[in-house]
Amino acid sequence: MANLEIDFCGVNFKNPIAAASAEPTLNADNMKKCIDKGAGSVIAKTMTDSPAMRELTTRAKWRFLNEKHEVCHGKVPRGFSLYSRSGLAIEQPKEFMKEITETVRYAEQNKSVVIGSIGSTDIDGWVELAKQMEGGGVPLLELNFGCPHPKLMPGVRTGMNVGQDFNYGCEITAAVSKAVKVPIIIKVTPQVTDLVQFSGMLKDAGAASVTLTNRFIGFVPDIETGKPMIYGKAGVGGPWTKPLTLRWINEVRKAFGDELPITGTNGAYDWRDVVSFIMSGASIVQICSAVMCYGYGWIEKQVDGLDKFMDEKGYKTINDMLGIATDACIEYSEMPAEKATVDEEMCVNCGMCLKACFSEAMQQGEEKVFVKEENCVGCGGCYSVCPVKGTIEMHQV
Ligand SMILES: Cc1cc2nc3c(=O)[nH]c(=O)nc-3n(C[C@H](O)[C@H](O)[C@H](O)COP(=O)(O)O)c2cc1C
Repeated sequence: MANLEIDFCGVNFKNPIAAASAEPTLNADNMKKCIDKGAGSVIAKTMTDSPAMRELTTRAKWRFLNEKHEVCHGKVPRGFSLYSRSGLAIEQPKEFMKEITETVRYAEQNKSVVIGSIGSTDIDGWVELAKQMEGGGVPLLELNFGCPHPKLMPGVRTGMNVGQDFNYGCEITAAVSKAVKVPIIIKVTPQVTDLVQFSGMLKDAGAASVTLTNRFIGFVPDIETGKPMIYGKAGVGGPWTKPLTLRWINEVRKAFGDELPITGTNGAYDWRDVVSFIMSGASIVQICSAVMCYGYGWIEKQVDGLDKFMDEKGYKTINDMLGIATDACIEYSEMPAEKATVDEEMCVNCGMCLKACFSEAMQQGEEKVFVKEENCVGCGGCYSVCPVKGTIEMHQV
């Protein structure tokens, strides 16, 4: 049996799968449901002193969209988008803290972890909310510098408005890390130029970890009506964002290694994605959209899937997988040369490879295609489109 436990910022987690801060963690009841389904941790919906961000959640709207960016109405495809407008926790901080303390107790009884999440509009507010969270007993605290919605709301200086102002973000981080003992995690927006630079600055300012990353802002018109979906621009994401998130996890892991542990979110759909996030360098992986689509039971299935995968592959601990794909990256200049070969016996002569070749390497013979080796640059386009696996192979030369 694989050991799914992981130590992260001095806290032991029974598994790396977390319910991300969102409606599935809106209150104690919801968080308890995530815990009941085996979540190693839950990140509470972001507690805020901003009335505008609290009120927005009472009018939240979201749509699951298919690959054509139409409302799914039925089967939700693997490559879906979640297009949403939602704010932060609805309750005032004093009230919301009751949800937190209740859930912290419940998590302790069930070997889970509650991570607090806060978002304010000024430095004193960030410090005050952090102190309240610490008082409520959370062992870790996430600062939400990534929420996309304040960017769409004039005058609301929180979320990604903070995450896009590196110096202000560091001022808040320094003030909060001085004010509380609990390790702080900064959840950043991907809509900046350089998250390696920002992560380093946050680390120097006192952050124990970074959460890479919150969601993007998008815009989806409904072409039938000529109007925008859910009234205008909104947060957007889904499993398709995974490579974009993993790029930053890869780079931050490479830059800081174990000195700056990472939690990953934005594109983790199932246990396979959880493995990808871990292999890129994230110790804890947060899932949101898929749980919002399939319900709390989704968490249990992913914990189970991760366990089985590790057993099959012989990984004994999460640390055996942590960052291994990032460690195995090589530079463009170090890439080996490759050439394609075609197994003529297997070739069905569909012509797909001819269309996907731009160096005149795939050539039509009398009956089957063949490779003109001197023209082949080894790109692998033909290999990718060939419908019969094993017919075209790439070989190092
Ligand atoms: C409806 C909705 C509400 C969210 N609310 C919060 C929030 O209150 N605080 C926060 O830090 N992130 C919030 N998020 C972002 C999620 O925590 C998560 O980082 C993001 O959805 C990416 O993960 P996913 O690809 O698994 O959906 C929200 C996302 C959605 C879709």
